[in-house]
Amino acid sequence: MPKREPIAVVVLAAGKGTRMRSDFPKVLHKAAGRTLLGHVLHSAAEAKPERTVVISGPEMPEVGEEARSIVPEAAIAIQDKRQGTGHAVGMAKDGLKGFEGTVLVLYGDVPLIRPETILALAQAVSEESPLAVLGFSAANPTGYGRLIQNRAGKLIAIREELDTTVDERRIDLCNSGFIAIKAKLLWELLPRITNDNAKHEYYLTDLVGLTVGQGRQVALAEWPEAEAHGVNTRAQLAQIEGLLQTRYRQEAMDNGATLIDPASVFLSADTEIGKDVTIEPHVVIGPHVKIGDDVEILAFSHIEGATIANGVRVGPFARLRPGADIGKNAHIGNFVEIKKAKIGEGAKANHLTYIGDARIGARSNIGAGTITCNYDGFEKHVTEIGADVFVGSNTALVAPVSVGDGSNIAAGSVITQNVHNDALAIARGQQTVKPGWAKKYRELKKAKKQKGKR
Ligand code: UD1
Ligand code: CA
Repeated sequence: MPKREPIAVVVLAAGKGTRMRSDFPKVLHKAAGRTLLGHVLHSAAEAKPERTVVISGPEMPEVGEEARSIVPEAAIAIQDKRQGTGHAVGMAKDGLKGFEGTVLVLYGDVPLIRPETILALAQAVSEESPLAVLGFSAANPTGYGRLIQNRAGKLIAIREELDTTVDERRIDLCNSGFIAIKAKLLWELLPRITNDNAKHEYYLTDLVGLTVGQGRQVALAEWPEAEAHGVNTRAQLAQIEGLLQTRYRQEAMDNGATLIDPASVFLSADTEIGKDVTIEPHVVIGPHVKIGDDVEILAFSHIEGATIANGVRVGPFARLRPGADIGKNAHIGNFVEIKKAKIGEGAKANHLTYIGDARIGARSNIGAGTITCNYDGFEKHVTEIGADVFVGSNTALVAPVSVGDGSNIAAGSVITQNVHNDALAIARGQQTVKPGWAKKYRELKKAKKQKGKR
């Protein structure tokens, strides 16, 4: 295979997103548990760019922080005043100093772009066509820049809607905004862009006309309209969420999971699901969840930040919170909440339990109503339960506390001291039995009642 030209990625993300009516920058809103910017950067990362530059706006340091959390070596450039997409790309000049390959320009608010599409766009650039534009046929082209072709079908210009003629407005081939261009040509042409247009902005799209003006060609890569959706409003954010969910559910099923009612299962962008996993209806899977093979997730379970090993059964109505690490073949049943706890192989917590900041050994059985009292109002403490332990129902384990292997905790205990291996711990009020007391009491009451009637 010929050596691929190095790629650099520039993501435009300086927009405030006024129409979102939000205190947060638009690109930090989330779909499928990942920021819009995160979606774009994750897709772009698959093209193995040599450099990544994110153009952020003033007073939004969180945008840079988010970018660096995904691409630690990313350069963040600040565009102080929005003067158009061409001006924004100019801000990447420092970050791309010395870079000589192909520059890809992506938008931070167009999150459905797939890695394959980014690669296809980069590969459309050649010696003959040093600029490539990603276009799509729009059912309703209103608002988009139109791709203007000559009679031979060659791309000659992009016209923003405000600057189009009536004839040009009928064109349905639209500009996605994503381009790929040889770095040398970019820096040569960028200073020649003017703001001589309806919005008085420096349009990146003017690169097309300028390239053609040099007697060179512009390549057109096409992608499905469904991937070109951008986010400007909360309604569009919800639409993107829906499209991503459809995509991830399909991928999960393609990889060997059964989703009984896909439409009611919500996944995250980074959800990992193994083979022969069954997910019942009404399950929500938040960020950072890994599910092994042969796992059953029963209806109405809510899972985030959890690792679930092979053969586990979760739910119905279970809640796994960040740090829940469920070992092989374990059972986590209804109304059980687990947070930051390691549950050993084959262990069972089948009903009505809270386990937080804990370690539970293999094969241990946690009875209904068991609570790890992990918080003293100031700090969190750890509960350690060994292997093969039987914890009776309605036990409170007041952390920090440990319970040894093979021990047995009597139901209703409040455990405040460590329990040795193989011991029985009983920590509850002594039962007192008064023979015949209830019968006597009943008869006394009955006699009183009859006296009153007389
Ligand atoms: C742009 C394209 C249009 C295309 C459309 C696709 C231009 C001139 N027009 O129009 O052809 O059909 O996208 O959605 O490029 N941004 C900055 N700094 C700026 C201006 C914009 O960072 O000074 C960022 C925005 O935050 C956004 C992106 O660039 O992420 C696009 O800008 P926007 O103003 O939304 O462009 P459109 O008018 O939609
Ligand atoms: Ca836009």
